[in-house]
Amino acid sequence: MLKESLEMFHLDENTWRAVADQFTRELDMAGVGESSSLKILPSYSSAPRGNEKGNYTAIDFGGSNLRVMQIKLQGQGSYRIIKQLSRPLRDPQGRYDYTGPHTTGEDVFGWVADLVAELLMGISTDGLGFTFSFPMKQQSIDSACLISWTKELKPAGTIGKDPGVMLGDALKSRGIKLKPAAIINDTVAVFLAGCYHDSAVCAGSICGTGFNTCILDYNQWKYPMIVNTEAGNFSRLPLIYYDKVLDSQTENPGQQLMEKMVSGKYLGELLRVTLKDMGERGAWSDYDPSLQIWNQPFAIKTEVMDWMQKETPQARLLLAGWMAEKGIPARAENYQLFTSLVKVIVQRAIMLIAASYFSVLQRNPLLYGERQLIAVDGALFKHWPGFLAGTEKILQRELQDRSVFLTYTENGSSIGAAIAAALSLVP
Ligand code: BGC
Repeated sequence: MLKESLEMFHLDENTWRAVADQFTRELDMAGVGESSSLKILPSYSSAPRGNEKGNYTAIDFGGSNLRVMQIKLQGQGSYRIIKQLSRPLRDPQGRYDYTGPHTTGEDVFGWVADLVAELLMGISTDGLGFTFSFPMKQQSIDSACLISWTKELKPAGTIGKDPGVMLGDALKSRGIKLKPAAIINDTVAVFLAGCYHDSAVCAGSICGTGFNTCILDYNQWKYPMIVNTEAGNFSRLPLIYYDKVLDSQTENPGQQLMEKMVSGKYLGELLRVTLKDMGERGAWSDYDPSLQIWNQPFAIKTEVMDWMQKETPQARLLLAGWMAEKGIPARAENYQLFTSLVKVIVQRAIMLIAASYFSVLQRNPLLYGERQLIAVDGALFKHWPGFLAGTEKILQRELQDRSVFLTYTENGSSIGAAIAAALSLVP
């Protein structure tokens, strides 16, 4: 019965190609304004030249941590981080939790403004770039309208409003006269940061708490425009039973289906749902329904999955501690069960992401001869062994007419915000 569960996560070659084809179809539909699970949201930003310079303040809001940085762009693709601060969305000591149900827009944007105020103490700035990583429709580089929240965040009174104005108001009430010169999605930021360095970048993508990709669109604009596809919402996917169970328990059922199959926020939950089901069907003898973990959504973090797949003595030790804490017997069979499930869940995520990139790269004209780069960022690409290389390998196997690489763009979400501010203020 373990074999059955493992096989459910397997993607065969035909299904993989069908996913890529459907992704292309959905992009095309979004491009002509037809109903689609993907979007073509213009960023009003074009590729940078690499010579942008100045001292900018960058906000990265949209993952598990809020980050603010003062960044010096030095031209020739180089930059220096002058100062940085970071705060988790949920305080580990329990003093605050902005993912909670009673949070308002004022709470959240006030919190962001407080951190900017702290960063700017004793520092002057040439402008502010705001990476805001949620679906929004932009009217220009510095104005946008919030479409929806994802990643289980839902501050009240914010949908339809401009995140830049909400932040600007919060800054103003703290005595800071600074409005974002640019508001961008994190994938756009990663694109800009990657491209600042190497002009062969033709897409930007994040796989961290959430998942998404932006691409260059040549069709409808005066210049090749970076557009956000909200790829995490892609829905023409071979969902299995466990995906459906997970989805039905989230705050946004039916939405962000791709994200729920590939991103850091959900992979641990997918494992938990699978183990619980196997236990309930009698396929796992050490399952104890009275343990809290089986009734507590999101009780398995991606970090724990990492210990499960590593099989090193240190990882085993950490895992044993975690199992003892949760009340799961530390038996060899259990380690083996966890390891094999984690492998198939992550391998499926890699294949799905690769299918979406394959579609994106095929649509893109080979402008720079035979090199095509996708700038990537996010915890999965950064920390998960083989995640970046595994995705890249599939693309290289499938696209032998060009040389495709994924380029990990450290701090892309922040560096890109600084570049966007520079592009907006010094066009
Ligand atoms: C959001 C995207 C964002 C992605 C990665 C998704 O949940 O909808 O806008 O780019 O997460 O942070």
